[in-house]
Amino acid sequence: MKQNTQKTLRDIAKSDVSSGISNKFTKDHSRVEKFSFDLDGLYIDFSKTHISTELIKAYESFADEINFKKMRQKFFSGEKINNTENRAVLHTLLRDSANQGIETKDKEFIEQAELSEQAFFSQYENIIASLKSRVEPIKNIIHVGIGGSSLGTQLVFEALAGIDCKVKVHFIGNIDAHKLASVLSECNAQDTLLIGVSKTFTTAETLQNINSIGRWYEEAGISAWRNQLYAVTAKPESAIKFGIQDSNIVGFPEWVGGRYSVWSAVSLSAVIAFGLDKFKQFLSGASSVDKHFYQSSLDENVCFIAALLDHYYANFLEVRSRAIFPYDDRLRSLVAYLQQLETESNGKDRQRDGELVDEHTSVVVWGGVGTDVQHSVFQMMHQGTSIIPAEFILVKNPEHNFDEHHHELLANGLAQTAALLTGQDLEKVKEMNKDVELSDIAMKAKIFSGQRPSTTMLLNSLTPHVLGALLAFYEHRTFCLGVFSNINSYDQMGVELGKRLAKEISPLLKSGSASAASGFDASTQVLIGRLKS
Ligand code: F6P
Repeated sequence: MKQNTQKTLRDIAKSDVSSGISNKFTKDHSRVEKFSFDLDGLYIDFSKTHISTELIKAYESFADEINFKKMRQKFFSGEKINNTENRAVLHTLLRDSANQGIETKDKEFIEQAELSEQAFFSQYENIIASLKSRVEPIKNIIHVGIGGSSLGTQLVFEALAGIDCKVKVHFIGNIDAHKLASVLSECNAQDTLLIGVSKTFTTAETLQNINSIGRWYEEAGISAWRNQLYAVTAKPESAIKFGIQDSNIVGFPEWVGGRYSVWSAVSLSAVIAFGLDKFKQFLSGASSVDKHFYQSSLDENVCFIAALLDHYYANFLEVRSRAIFPYDDRLRSLVAYLQQLETESNGKDRQRDGELVDEHTSVVVWGGVGTDVQHSVFQMMHQGTSIIPAEFILVKNPEHNFDEHHHELLANGLAQTAALLTGQDLEKVKEMNKDVELSDIAMKAKIFSGQRPSTTMLLNSLTPHVLGALLAFYEHRTFCLGVFSNINSYDQMGVELGKRLAKEISPLLKSGSASAASGFDASTQVLIGRLKS
């Protein structure tokens, strides 16, 4: 970042720290209209953050400095922006292979997107047809996959399947067989379909879980279980090697990253449960945000604005985490999904040219579902010593008929956003407690500083279209942050070292001698010894 842009941002930060957010409302009565946006069934209100016209302007200059628009164009046009793995990043093509309004350089990519969509949809039709001919209808699907090969699918299943969905999809990712054992105890082998999902089809957890489920089928008398095992992968040859028949494999292109693969056949299990129509609407919601992100000017671009706030908070206001609070139980897996999306994409310390970054990249992303979180972490949100920007996601129309519950849910969500902003000073505390006897200490403990930033997103209903739009918004925000910090958001080298060491430790835990562990640090050697004894 150029010195003068940095200086501008430092000056803005200085004034933001001293004057807070409430003041901004006093000074500008059109603040809410100015900093709220309607995006395809998604209303996003940034007004309770430190957003300002000056801040947006400063980031527009920064965007010019770093050639942001060029990078955005490279991304959509299929240039190999994943430079460490020499790959294009084109998951956006899966949402609209016709590519309307967006130019993709290479027609081959469009063809690949079309072919993978056709393969996915026709595999879906085949499975549905074969399910119809079964004597015992399928009631359960076990989706085996980890990280990007399951977090998105689990989220869309929970969000969109609907209360009356007849098929339950169970997700198994972890190698910890407590999960496996508990899922198997809920299923009957005769009415359970197995789908293994892995981009590489080499992930240890996934392969081991599939094999263990295979033994469960065999014990239930289904020896030909591999015939009804479906695989979703970008490496069909690995799935074949694993023993899955060719006709049961559905592929997706290499240029779809794991954490960006919810738009592909990776979602097969959820789509079997809730139908192709919903999935197509989900894609269309994302596609319309793609167009918004690609075409709109930066000062009206919600993905850019959300990202500039993230960058500003991390680098100029010393913010180290961001909290996400969906006030809707159907979005209970959103936080886990976004944790992978944002931290695996941008939790990096190297720039695109290999040099160390000189700023803060991904903050900790965390959160939980409202109102539960109000009774656990909100004490810290309101009175803790760190400022944590929060995001509230409220859905206007629920899927159930318990109107009073919903009314209270929304009231609680809104109350939190208002309380974080305005806080409560000593005068107010005194006024509120004028009829009770309260010590000075107790009075002070009731002071809330306020001026804590939050963004509110209002969804009309949690439709597939709106969910697609919401996830695409987060994806592009993540992209922007990667460009701001000049990092490659599309590799994940940071998880490799641990995986390699696990392979070395595994045989030591089984049978290796104590001296075989000598290559490890002293603490790890003792821990290995304790676990063996
Ligand atoms: O943990 C790293 C990672 O590669 C993730 O990025 C990915 O989502 C996950 O593992 C699963 O990988 P695969 O789909 O190849 O099984």
